Amino acid sequence: MPQVQKYPAGWRVLHWIIALLVLTLIPVGLWMASRAEADIWGALTNTLYSAHKAIGFSVLLLMILRIVVKIRLKGPPYPDEMPRKLQIAAKSVHHLMYVLLVVTPLFGWAGVTAFPALTIVGDYKLPGMPFVPEDEELASSLFYIHGWLAITLGVLIAGHIAAALRHFLRKDGIFQRMV
Ligand code: HEM
Repeated sequence: MPQVQKYPAGWRVLHWIIALLVLTLIPVGLWMASRAEADIWGALTNTLYSAHKAIGFSVLLLMILRIVVKIRLKGPPYPDEMPRKLQIAAKSVHHLMYVLLVVTPLFGWAGVTAFPALTIVGDYKLPGMPFVPEDEELASSLFYIHGWLAITLGVLIAGHIAAALRHFLRKDGIFQRMV
Protein backbone atom coordinates (compact mmCIF):
# COMPACT_ATOMS: atom_id res chain seq x y z
CA MET A 1 0.00 0.00 0.00
CA PRO A 2 1.32 3.52 -0.77
CA GLN A 3 2.42 5.86 2.06
CA VAL A 4 -0.84 7.10 3.67
CA GLN A 5 -1.27 10.73 4.71
CA LYS A 6 -4.33 10.77 7.00
CA TYR A 7 -6.95 13.46 7.57
CA PRO A 8 -6.42 15.31 10.92
CA ALA A 9 -7.76 13.27 13.91
CA GLY A 10 -10.59 15.71 14.78
CA TRP A 11 -11.76 15.62 11.17
CA ARG A 12 -11.83 11.80 11.16
CA VAL A 13 -13.70 11.62 14.49
CA LEU A 14 -16.36 14.07 13.25
CA HIS A 15 -16.66 12.18 9.95
CA TRP A 16 -17.49 8.86 11.65
CA ILE A 17 -19.78 10.32 14.34
CA ILE A 18 -21.81 12.23 11.75
CA ALA A 19 -21.84 9.21 9.40
CA LEU A 20 -23.27 7.02 12.19
CA LEU A 21 -25.88 9.63 13.13
CA VAL A 22 -27.02 10.21 9.53
CA LEU A 23 -27.18 6.48 8.78
CA THR A 24 -29.50 6.22 11.80
CA LEU A 25 -31.53 9.32 10.91
CA ILE A 26 -32.55 8.31 7.39
CA PRO A 27 -34.17 4.94 8.26
CA VAL A 28 -35.72 6.38 11.44
CA GLY A 29 -37.09 9.31 9.40
CA LEU A 30 -38.59 7.01 6.75
CA TRP A 31 -40.02 4.68 9.39
CA MET A 32 -41.68 7.39 11.50
CA ALA A 33 -43.03 9.21 8.42
CA SER A 34 -44.56 5.95 7.13
CA ARG A 35 -46.19 5.33 10.54
CA ALA A 36 -47.56 8.89 10.54
CA GLU A 37 -48.87 8.40 6.97
CA ALA A 38 -50.62 5.20 8.10
CA ASP A 39 -52.03 7.13 11.08
CA ILE A 40 -50.26 4.89 13.59
CA TRP A 41 -49.62 6.97 16.69
CA GLY A 42 -48.40 5.88 20.10
CA ALA A 43 -45.25 5.51 22.17
CA LEU A 44 -43.08 4.04 19.40
CA THR A 45 -43.98 6.71 16.82
CA ASN A 46 -43.42 9.46 19.40
CA THR A 47 -40.06 7.99 20.39
CA LEU A 48 -38.98 7.81 16.75
CA TYR A 49 -39.94 11.46 16.20
CA SER A 50 -38.18 12.55 19.40
CA ALA A 51 -35.01 10.63 18.54
CA HIS A 52 -35.06 11.93 14.96
CA LYS A 53 -35.41 15.56 16.05
CA ALA A 54 -32.71 15.28 18.74
CA ILE A 55 -30.22 13.44 16.50
CA GLY A 56 -30.99 15.68 13.50
CA PHE A 57 -30.40 18.84 15.53
CA SER A 58 -27.14 17.37 16.86
CA VAL A 59 -26.03 16.75 13.26
CA LEU A 60 -26.66 20.41 12.49
CA LEU A 61 -24.51 21.53 15.45
CA LEU A 62 -21.76 19.01 14.62
CA MET A 63 -21.76 20.19 11.00
CA ILE A 64 -21.02 23.74 12.13
CA LEU A 65 -18.02 22.37 14.03
CA ARG A 66 -17.03 20.24 11.04
CA ILE A 67 -17.07 23.23 8.69
CA VAL A 68 -14.86 25.19 11.12
CA VAL A 69 -12.46 22.22 11.27
CA LYS A 70 -12.45 21.93 7.47
CA ILE A 71 -11.65 25.64 7.07
CA ARG A 72 -8.92 25.65 9.74
CA LEU A 73 -7.21 22.31 9.05
CA LYS A 74 -5.98 21.15 5.68
CA GLY A 75 -6.89 17.70 4.38
CA PRO A 76 -4.21 15.60 2.66
CA PRO A 77 -3.93 16.11 -1.11
CA TYR A 78 -5.04 13.31 -3.46
CA PRO A 79 -2.19 11.22 -4.85
CA ASP A 80 -0.82 12.40 -8.23
CA GLU A 81 -1.77 9.05 -9.84
CA MET A 82 -5.47 9.77 -9.21
CA PRO A 83 -6.98 11.15 -12.45
CA ARG A 84 -7.75 14.89 -12.25
CA LYS A 85 -11.37 14.38 -13.34
CA LEU A 86 -11.92 11.85 -10.55
CA GLN A 87 -10.42 14.26 -8.01
CA ILE A 88 -12.82 17.00 -9.16
CA ALA A 89 -15.79 14.58 -9.08
CA ALA A 90 -14.90 13.38 -5.55
CA LYS A 91 -14.49 16.97 -4.27
CA SER A 92 -17.79 18.05 -5.86
CA VAL A 93 -19.71 15.18 -4.23
CA HIS A 94 -18.09 15.95 -0.87
CA HIS A 95 -19.02 19.64 -1.11
CA LEU A 96 -22.58 18.78 -2.13
CA MET A 97 -22.83 16.46 0.88
CA TYR A 98 -21.63 19.27 3.17
CA VAL A 99 -24.35 21.56 1.74
CA LEU A 100 -27.07 18.90 2.15
CA LEU A 101 -25.90 18.01 5.66
CA VAL A 102 -26.57 21.62 6.66
CA VAL A 103 -29.63 22.43 4.55
CA THR A 104 -31.54 19.16 5.28
CA PRO A 105 -31.56 19.58 9.08
CA LEU A 106 -32.29 23.31 8.66
CA PHE A 107 -35.51 22.44 6.79
CA GLY A 108 -36.43 19.83 9.44
CA TRP A 109 -35.84 22.36 12.21
CA ALA A 110 -37.81 25.06 10.35
CA GLY A 111 -40.65 22.51 9.87
CA VAL A 112 -40.91 21.62 13.56
CA THR A 113 -40.77 25.34 14.43
CA ALA A 114 -43.64 26.16 12.06
CA PHE A 115 -45.78 23.14 13.04
CA PRO A 116 -44.90 23.64 16.04
CA ALA A 117 -43.49 20.33 17.37
CA LEU A 118 -40.34 21.35 19.23
CA THR A 119 -40.74 19.06 22.27
CA ILE A 120 -38.19 16.25 22.46
CA VAL A 121 -39.05 14.69 25.81
CA GLY A 122 -40.88 15.99 28.90
CA ASP A 123 -40.04 19.65 29.35
CA TYR A 124 -37.06 19.48 27.03
CA LYS A 125 -37.70 21.46 23.85
CA LEU A 126 -35.55 22.46 20.89
CA PRO A 127 -35.20 26.22 20.44
CA GLY A 128 -37.47 27.57 17.71
CA MET A 129 -35.82 28.74 14.49
CA PRO A 130 -35.79 32.55 14.49
CA PHE A 131 -38.20 34.33 12.08
CA VAL A 132 -40.22 31.15 11.30
CA PRO A 133 -43.93 31.78 12.02
CA GLU A 134 -46.34 29.13 13.38
CA ASP A 135 -48.19 27.94 10.29
CA GLU A 136 -49.17 24.32 9.64
CA GLU A 137 -49.35 24.72 5.86
CA LEU A 138 -45.86 26.21 5.82
CA ALA A 139 -44.69 23.31 8.04
CA SER A 140 -46.00 20.73 5.59
CA SER A 141 -44.18 22.43 2.66
CA LEU A 142 -40.98 22.57 4.73
CA PHE A 143 -41.29 18.85 5.62
CA TYR A 144 -41.90 17.99 1.96
CA ILE A 145 -38.66 19.75 0.94
CA HIS A 146 -36.88 18.21 3.97
CA GLY A 147 -37.91 14.71 2.82
CA TRP A 148 -36.63 15.23 -0.73
CA LEU A 149 -33.36 16.74 0.46
CA ALA A 150 -32.89 13.73 2.75
CA ILE A 151 -33.55 11.29 -0.11
CA THR A 152 -31.03 13.15 -2.32
CA LEU A 153 -28.53 13.01 0.54
CA GLY A 154 -29.20 9.27 0.89
CA VAL A 155 -28.45 8.70 -2.81
CA LEU A 156 -25.18 10.67 -2.55
CA ILE A 157 -24.22 8.76 0.59
CA ALA A 158 -24.83 5.44 -1.21
CA GLY A 159 -22.49 6.56 -4.01
CA HIS A 160 -19.95 7.80 -1.46
CA ILE A 161 -19.98 4.44 0.37
CA ALA A 162 -19.62 2.57 -2.94
CA ALA A 163 -16.60 4.71 -3.88
CA ALA A 164 -15.06 4.23 -0.41
CA LEU A 165 -15.53 0.45 -0.69
CA ARG A 166 -13.86 0.46 -4.09
CA HIS A 167 -10.82 2.27 -2.63
CA PHE A 168 -10.81 -0.19 0.29
CA LEU A 169 -10.78 -3.22 -2.03
CA ARG A 170 -8.14 -1.68 -4.33
CA LYS A 171 -5.95 -0.91 -1.29
CA ASP A 172 -4.86 2.38 -2.90
CA GLY A 173 -4.56 4.14 0.49
CA ILE A 174 -7.49 6.55 -0.07
CA PHE A 175 -9.81 4.67 2.34
CA GLN A 176 -7.12 4.56 5.05
CA ARG A 177 -6.87 8.37 5.04
CA MET A 178 -10.24 8.57 6.90
CA VAL A 179 -9.73 5.61 9.28
C1 HEM B 1 -29.02 15.38 8.36
C2 HEM B 1 -30.11 15.51 9.09
C3 HEM B 1 -31.44 14.86 8.76
C4 HEM B 1 -31.74 13.82 7.90
C5 HEM B 1 -30.79 13.02 6.99
C6 HEM B 1 -33.17 13.60 7.99
C7 HEM B 1 -33.88 12.62 7.29
C8 HEM B 1 -35.25 12.49 7.26
C9 HEM B 1 -35.99 11.54 6.47
C10 HEM B 1 -35.40 10.49 5.52
C11 HEM B 1 -37.31 11.75 6.70
C12 HEM B 1 -38.50 11.01 6.07
C13 HEM B 1 -39.01 11.83 4.90
C14 HEM B 1 -40.29 11.28 4.31
O1 HEM B 1 -40.42 10.07 4.13
O2 HEM B 1 -41.16 12.10 4.00
C15 HEM B 1 -37.43 12.82 7.67
C16 HEM B 1 -38.62 13.32 8.18
C17 HEM B 1 -38.70 14.25 9.22
N1 HEM B 1 -37.67 14.93 9.81
FE1 HEM B 1 -35.71 14.70 9.36
N2 HEM B 1 -33.70 14.49 8.91
C18 HEM B 1 -32.68 15.28 9.40
C19 HEM B 1 -32.78 16.29 10.35
C20 HEM B 1 -33.96 16.68 10.98
C21 HEM B 1 -34.08 17.72 12.00
C22 HEM B 1 -32.91 18.58 12.54
C23 HEM B 1 -35.38 17.77 12.36
C24 HEM B 1 -36.04 18.66 13.39
C25 HEM B 1 -35.43 19.19 14.42
C26 HEM B 1 -36.11 16.80 11.57
C27 HEM B 1 -37.47 16.56 11.65
C28 HEM B 1 -38.18 15.72 10.82
C29 HEM B 1 -39.61 15.53 10.89
C30 HEM B 1 -40.56 16.18 11.90
C31 HEM B 1 -39.96 14.62 9.88
C32 HEM B 1 -41.34 14.07 9.53
C33 HEM B 1 -41.99 14.96 8.51
C34 HEM B 1 -43.37 14.43 8.21
O3 HEM B 1 -43.91 13.66 9.02
O4 HEM B 1 -43.88 14.83 7.17
N3 HEM B 1 -35.22 16.16 10.74
N4 HEM B 1 -36.16 13.26 7.99
